[in-house]
Parts: sequence; C-alpha cells; structure tokens
Amino acid sequence: MIVISEKAKAIKTSPTLAVFSVAKKMMADGIDVINFGVGEPDFNTPEYIKEAAKKAIDENFTRYTVGAGIPELRKAIIKKLKTDNNLDYGMDEIIVTPGAKAAIETLLTTICNPGDQVIIPTPYWVSYPAQVELANGESVYFETEMSENFKINPVRLEQLIKTLSKPRAIILNSPSNPAGIVYSREELAEIAKVCIRHNIIIISDEIYEKLVYGNAEHYSIADTVPEVKNLTIVINGVSKAYAMTGWRLGYAAGPKEIIENAVKIQSHTASCINSITQKATVAALSVDDGSLEKMRQAFEERKKFMTSALNKIDHLVCIEPQGAFYCFPSIDYYIQNNSQGLKNDVELCTWLLEKKHIAVVPGSAFGVPQCLRFSYANSMENLVEGMKRFEEGLKELI
Ligand SMILES: Cc1ncc(COP(=O)(O)O)c(C=O)c1O
Repeated sequence: MIVISEKAKAIKTSPTLAVFSVAKKMMADGIDVINFGVGEPDFNTPEYIKEAAKKAIDENFTRYTVGAGIPELRKAIIKKLKTDNNLDYGMDEIIVTPGAKAAIETLLTTICNPGDQVIIPTPYWVSYPAQVELANGESVYFETEMSENFKINPVRLEQLIKTLSKPRAIILNSPSNPAGIVYSREELAEIAKVCIRHNIIIISDEIYEKLVYGNAEHYSIADTVPEVKNLTIVINGVSKAYAMTGWRLGYAAGPKEIIENAVKIQSHTASCINSITQKATVAALSVDDGSLEKMRQAFEERKKFMTSALNKIDHLVCIEPQGAFYCFPSIDYYIQNNSQGLKNDVELCTWLLEKKHIAVVPGSAFGVPQCLRFSYANSMENLVEGMKRFEEGLKELI
C-alpha cells in the first residue's frame, strides 16, 4: 500500500486548478477559450537578457555555483535594492533562489517553529497558506474589507495579533495579487509600527514592484521606519518585471542571521540556482533597454480597459487596481441572484467556462469567494472579446 504523508495530504488542491484543468482540456479540443487566468506576462524575455544567457552557455558557465548566488549577481541585487528601494544590504544578507516562490518557502522554513502563527491578509496569493503549512507554521487570516480597498487596517491588525498565542510573521504583498492594491509609504509605516510593537517578522513580497500605474509608487516596507528593516525579509525576483517566469529566479534580502540560515537550508534543497539564469539576471538588473517600460505601459492600457469594462456591468464592483496585472471584481450579486441555481464562485466560473468559453479564477482560491480574478496578461483583442462574453453571460444568468 502506498503511504502518503499527512503533510502532503493536508495541502489542498487549489479550486483554480480544477477550473483550469477543464479549460486546458477544452483548449486542447480546439475550443476557443479566452483565458483570464494567466499569471505571467504575455511578452517575450527581452533580447539582451537572452543574449547574456547564450553567452554564459558558450563560455561554459554551466556548473554548480555558490549556494547564495554568484557574487556578481548578489552585487547587482544590492545595487538594485539601493537604487530602487533606498535599502542597504551586504553580500551576506542576500540569497538567490529558484523563483520568489522558493524564496518565500525557504524563508518561512527558516523562521517558523512548529505552530508559529503567520498572518496572511485576504485576499492572498494562492500559495501562501500551503507554504506556511509546508514550513510547519499555522496560517491565520486577516480579513480585509473591500470598502477599505482590501488594505490592512493597522488597528484591526493589532487587535488580531493580541489574540494570537504564537504570532511570528505576516506576509505582505504590494503590489498585490489578486486585488492589484499598492500601499502608500504612510500606510506601510503604520503596519510597520504594529509589527515592531509585537516583534512580527514581515515577509514583504514585492514581485510586482515594477508594474504600478497612474500615481501609484512602489515602496518597500523595509524603508519606512528605521527599526523595521531588521524585522523585514524583502522578496523579489525577475519573473514578472522582465517576463522571465520560466527562468526561475527570485531572491530574498534580510538580516544576516536569517539569510545565513536560509542559505544552509537551500544548500540541501536546490543547492544553487541555474548558473545560466544567474548570468541572465545580472544582465536584466544591470541594463535598461526600455522593454520593461513598454510592458508596463501595455499593462496600464489593458488595466484601464478592464476596469472600465467591468464597472460598466450592472451590480458588479471593481476597485481600480494600481499594480500587478489582475482585476478582482465582486460578483456577489450574481451568486445570490442567478436563475441557474449556481451556489458559489466555483460554480459560476464553471458555468462561464462551459457556456461562454471564458476561464476566470474563483475568488475562493484567494480567500474571498464573493469575487473573481481576471488577469489582463492577454492581448487587447482577447480582453475585448472575453469581456463581451462575460457581460453576455451575466445577463443570461439573471
Ligand atoms: C504574489 C506572488 N508572489 C510570488 C510569485 C512567484 O513568483 P516566481 O515566479 O518568482 O516564483 C507569484 C507568481 O504568480 C505571485 O503572484
């Protein structure tokens, strides 16, 4: 008999995956499904980055590297953190990981003792709860309100912390997936003060840093009030900013003691990151050929279209995202008032997929079942057609 560990069994398969495995099958059968579920830029990796990778291969830079990441790359990351985020780090305060996802996982493993509580604000990125469980921590959800733009209310955060027995960390995500919210420097400072008062480590996932729109500006919480840097682990990477999702490179910056222990753990898991990707990332971080800004502008244009198209639909409310590439409208009215007997967001998404051939992610995957997530990492043509189908679908539903 095959035995599966309790830990593996406890990890839930995301409802996202259930809807998307059907969507993928439909697409494979030649059905024209408009996919609003994409979590990655629909652009190619810029040429100069690919050239750097080709050069690394030609020069046989193909062996194991030091576990924390090649010094040249860590230096480039240090420079980036100084220039973009006004943060000073030393070489032993940086670890390069196989994606930001692995950075979060390794760092959670580094800081969590069994049962330590990690606060996850809702709506959250789908992987956070499973990552906390894998690190033997316990996820505690902080429910934000749509009326407060899905942002953390520091007073309520402090109230929650006071009720916890083993509060250890909070995962902060700005710009955020799925709601596209971006915290101002002042808002971050208020959250920082609460964390300082209760000695809570902040895992600050800044992977969408480069995708901000309108007047929004990205700040790292580590640069808000002086004492908070020592409590913060900054997570970032190149997947979203440089259209490099398949290359797998992320990194974490934080206090030496934490990073050294993370490097120790990684030496027994990934060993090191793909040597070619590391060289490509040095190029990505050191050169600006304008492609990043071009992508950002394209996303901003799509965001404007999506927000306005969604808000034109009766009984639907969508907060204007300020970053990332997702819209997260509330569709609660249609769950409560439909003629098809659909009882929840997953059933609504399944109906939209089957009847209208659009794939949208149910909000329950992010802890908010009143909403749906639309990714606009798709061509304008597809977005226009997809929104037409969505609107028609909702009309047919009531
Ligand atoms: C909020 C958030 N953090 C982290 C990641 C993971 O990024 P990476 O490709 O660097 O592992 C994603 C990817 O979707 C994300 O949405």
